[in-house]
Amino acid sequence: MGCTLALVPSLQIIAASTSGHTDYVVTNVTIFLKTKVPNVSVTVIRAEQAKAEDLLKGDVLLLASGTWNTGGSEGQMNPHMHAFLRERAADAKLKGKKVAIIGLGDARYRYTAKAKDLLEEFVKSHGGELLLPSLKIVNEPYGQEEAIKKWAQELAKKISSHA
Ligand SMILES: Cc1cc2nc3c(=O)[nH]c(=O)nc-3n(C[C@H](O)[C@H](O)[C@H](O)COP(=O)(O)O)c2cc1C
Repeated sequence: MGCTLALVPSLQIIAASTSGHTDYVVTNVTIFLKTKVPNVSVTVIRAEQAKAEDLLKGDVLLLASGTWNTGGSEGQMNPHMHAFLRERAADAKLKGKKVAIIGLGDARYRYTAKAKDLLEEFVKSHGGELLLPSLKIVNEPYGQEEAIKKWAQELAKKISSHA
């Protein structure tokens, strides 16, 4: 008699959020994802606690950060994500890793939501593969739930097909 193994897709999220905006987006994505991919296993790790090896866990990795004036110049990643990716995980090898990105920012700043571009550059330069076009949230995320949901729907499709 044969046996059937149920595949449980997994998503590893590493996020940095100072005023809670990125956390709000990540929470919305997670809630929606769970309705679309019922068995999905989601782990959320704060960038300040993340280790380089955490980048390699899960079928799909999601990196999320707002844009900050880290180190005194605008258009940088959140300080915690910056310290993680530029220092602790600077030598990470992401070959074959499927990655999704969420970047936030505010239109009042010149380098609006540049964190999205910086996260994409990190993934590409370390050999990772961007799974879908990144989600960019400009200004407060409250009221932007439809855009978040639409993106989460695309992410759900990708996760289901890569598990
Ligand atoms: C000190 C400071 C610097 C910021 N610098 C930028 C910036 O250079 N570009 C940008 O688009 N947004 C910038 N922002 C806006 C934040 O990225 C935006 O509010 C984001 O939603 C914050 O997300 P978080 O609460 O998850 O950290 C800055 C905000 C602060 C308070």
